[in-house]
Amino acid sequence: MGIEEMIVTPWEVVGKIDYKKLIEKFGTKPLSGKLLKKIEKHAGKLHMQLRRGVFFSHRDLDWLLDKYENGEKFALYTGRGPSGPVHLGHLIPWVFTKYLQDSFDAKLYFQMTDDEKYLITPKMTSKMALNHTYDNLLDLIALGFDPKKTLVISDMRCARTMYNIALNVAKHVTLSTAKAVFGFTDNSNIGIVFFPSIQAVPAFLPSILEGKNVPCLIPAAIDQDPYWRVTRDAAHKLGFYKPAQIHSKFMPGLGKGGKMSASIPETCIFTIDEPEIVEKKIKNAFTGGRATVKEQRRLGGNPNICSVHQYLYYMFEKDDDKIKELHNLCETGKMLCGECKQILLDKVQPFLKEHQKKREKAKDKVDEFLADNKINIKLPWKG
Ligand code: TYM
Repeated sequence: MGIEEMIVTPWEVVGKIDYKKLIEKFGTKPLSGKLLKKIEKHAGKLHMQLRRGVFFSHRDLDWLLDKYENGEKFALYTGRGPSGPVHLGHLIPWVFTKYLQDSFDAKLYFQMTDDEKYLITPKMTSKMALNHTYDNLLDLIALGFDPKKTLVISDMRCARTMYNIALNVAKHVTLSTAKAVFGFTDNSNIGIVFFPSIQAVPAFLPSILEGKNVPCLIPAAIDQDPYWRVTRDAAHKLGFYKPAQIHSKFMPGLGKGGKMSASIPETCIFTIDEPEIVEKKIKNAFTGGRATVKEQRRLGGNPNICSVHQYLYYMFEKDDDKIKELHNLCETGKMLCGECKQILLDKVQPFLKEHQKKREKAKDKVDEFLADNKINIKLPWKG
């Protein structure tokens, strides 16, 4: 296996990611200019992540917007596998989902797959997974989602509803499909083999709860795509609309290459990190700089491979002219890595300070968001 071989699954992202190739491999479509215009028409403005191609691919988004234009509102569905603290990469799809919720007045179903993380992580107990659900929910609330339009589903806490709907999905997914799509082997536990049917459920919940077919849009990074292939197949068989997707790229880690991943904590900024820790991580970040200052002044740096620049690009420098200017200053050797790191630090630290305050306040709001007693689908004795 070559070092650079690209692997993108829900549990593993390795190698240099070629997003064009991923579109081909996964059978999705690039976000066209025409589609972006259509989003802009309805949303009023294009989110920074759309303007910059952070969200780059989709399935059936054109269909979903046609439905919207014909008066059929859509629901949003996204989620988190609560394996530990939330990092800044996770916020990419969530911040974008908030923009969609606000712009399209859409209801959000947010799934916490505590079951998935329990099943897939050897050292995780079910209690730990539930604790992470609670902790990660604070991050979601801190981003300002509207509790009246947001339902957070913990799979373990909402097991009755989730399981009974998942059964319908599971019946239509063969083991050979699951193996081909997710790479399960004889060593995979049987819980995780069943799990994709649980991750399919929130795509159908809006339709089940409203008693009619409701279009559903899933914003997430492209690593989650295997789930949607199975879900879309089952949707067709069960008489639901196929859920549409909009896919983002991966915010990189602060190391050399690779996505931001909690499994390499020193290259990963967590939302609960203390300011000194954040400073240390950013100061040690991999950049596109040269070996010496002299060389960098003469030859310029490479912002395209620089993790610090990517952070500004994906999330922290909202002004398009500014980000272009920073790119240029780096390439022409007019700005050195130390200055650029400081610019990022001056943005990340205040953001996290504010976010951490909001996380504290979120503790009083948890029950407003939890779906626990709101989606208790009862099963009648008689059919
Ligand atoms: P999880 O916890 O691995 O990731 C949560 C969300 O964050 C995205 N993501 C990233 N986005 C940008 N840059 C990164 N470096 C980065 N790392 C992770 C993921 O794509 C995801 O959107 N099984 C899921 C939980 C889930 C879910 C869903 C996610 C259940 N239903 C519906 C999205 C949509 C999981 O473990 O996500």
